[in-house]
Amino acid sequence: MFVADLPELPCRLAAADPGWNETTDVLVVGSGVAGLTAALHLREQGLHVTVVTKVNIDDGSTRWAQGGIAAVLDPLDTPAAHANDTEIAGVGLCDPAAVRVLVEEGPARVRELIRLGASFDRHADGSLMLTREGGHRADRIVHAGGDATGAEVQRALHEAVHRDPWIRLVEHALVLDLLRAPDGRACGITLHVLGEGSEDGVGAILARAVVLATGGMGQIYSSTTNPSVSTGDGVALALRAGALVSDVEFVQFHPTSFVTASVNSVQRPLISEALRGEGAHLVDESGTRFMVGQHELAELAPRDVVAKGIHRVLLETGADHVYLDARHLGREFLEQRFPTIVASTRAAGVDPATELIPVAPAAHYASGGVRTDLAGRTSIPGLYACGEVACTGVHGANRLASNSLLEGLVFAKRIADDIARELPAQADPAPAEPGPGWVVPAAVRPELQRTMTRGAGVLRSADSLSATAKELARLAEQRDTPRNAAWEATNLLTVATVLVAAARTRRETRGCHWREDFPGAEDEWRGHLLHTLDRQARLTQSFEEMA
Ligand code: SIN
Repeated sequence: MFVADLPELPCRLAAADPGWNETTDVLVVGSGVAGLTAALHLREQGLHVTVVTKVNIDDGSTRWAQGGIAAVLDPLDTPAAHANDTEIAGVGLCDPAAVRVLVEEGPARVRELIRLGASFDRHADGSLMLTREGGHRADRIVHAGGDATGAEVQRALHEAVHRDPWIRLVEHALVLDLLRAPDGRACGITLHVLGEGSEDGVGAILARAVVLATGGMGQIYSSTTNPSVSTGDGVALALRAGALVSDVEFVQFHPTSFVTASVNSVQRPLISEALRGEGAHLVDESGTRFMVGQHELAELAPRDVVAKGIHRVLLETGADHVYLDARHLGREFLEQRFPTIVASTRAAGVDPATELIPVAPAAHYASGGVRTDLAGRTSIPGLYACGEVACTGVHGANRLASNSLLEGLVFAKRIADDIARELPAQADPAPAEPGPGWVVPAAVRPELQRTMTRGAGVLRSADSLSATAKELARLAEQRDTPRNAAWEATNLLTVATVLVAAARTRRETRGCHWREDFPGAEDEWRGHLLHTLDRQARLTQSFEEMA
């Protein structure tokens, strides 16, 4: 049942010994919605917080989120209905307790964000505008600046963090490995800072608890809606530390990224699902609405269904895109409701008021990640995970639209509450455990992206996955000297390898994991694949049936 030839992966990143160190109460790694919200709630608990982030504070995925935040804010809507939509999208793998937490605590967290200064779009009477996206059977998505929700959330959190002198921000800091106390508890991290003065190079930050909020891993593919910083650093670090990761085979492909020759990067502009929520249609070359008849919600079916529908057309026609037709929505409406999309498509010479928008699926969201409980605790005491890096159980096999910012808000608060309940004294790190440490060259990155896109993308099969695994193993034989781009490439290789191992094992099609050779969802696979890396650098895989 399980993949026999699981590869070896590094147990730590080869790096120099820390040349400097400092201490804080709680260390938060990452500065998107999850990390900054956690930092602010930790401050409410009176704790000193250090936030480290790989580039600049606003460079993560949050600011790119367009659609919005799903929460029950309409008196006619109910948490039970939101939970139901979330669980349908998750195709049998959502943890009902985690989903209940998400939908019941979500509205309060959104109201807190509003009190903090986030400004969401409102009707003339002052009530919040609520829209709909794929998989939702009610209007429950709050949005800001039309289609610039993530940018507004990031702005509000960024400003709040800057107002607090007890939150220390360290930018240009790539996290390397977890430090653990003699009793196994997380007690800090090593990191590499491109800084000035005392904090340059490899250092250590010691903390009484560590929160991973490093975002996703979309950069394992050649086209993604994620920014270049989304290299799976948190999942890779957690694996090297021996933590459990889960559900990594469930990478969500957003159906509609903008296909344009004028964007020459792995990150593709997102065309928000909210555009379909407002009535835009998907059409093929001949103008036919191919999603009609495939699902009762047509273009607004859950994302995996729409991405698969598009992929089928691409396979049939050999084209690299289908089209989104938003012309009937009118110029004025489009400019007012979707200013970000209109600006990005027009910059590439496509006017959505008069022309069809070329779109195709692109890697968008890791539904799995570092396994946590309802308080955000990982399998390593003192190590928490929040946001896209985490697998809380709310997304199952496929995340429902606009549940991601919500998850960051809800679980960040739970983590802060849990940390405040029982925070031990600062421990000294134990000497690093033995185990191989190595890095691959930065040049591995584009090769890995092409390999993953070819064999482990929207559509997978035993043959494509085994070819991908072989190619990843070949890339893993290469070695380089430690530096930022090599560390990132090693993280990409680590998470890609685990993803492919999981995808080979899961012999069924479920949610966003689509196996050409096993087209249906199977009861025997109703459960989670868990992975850990042991001190001998062996990846082990286990299966946990749903309760
Ligand atoms: C979108 O606007 O389509 C993306 C929202 C999400 O990923 O939930």
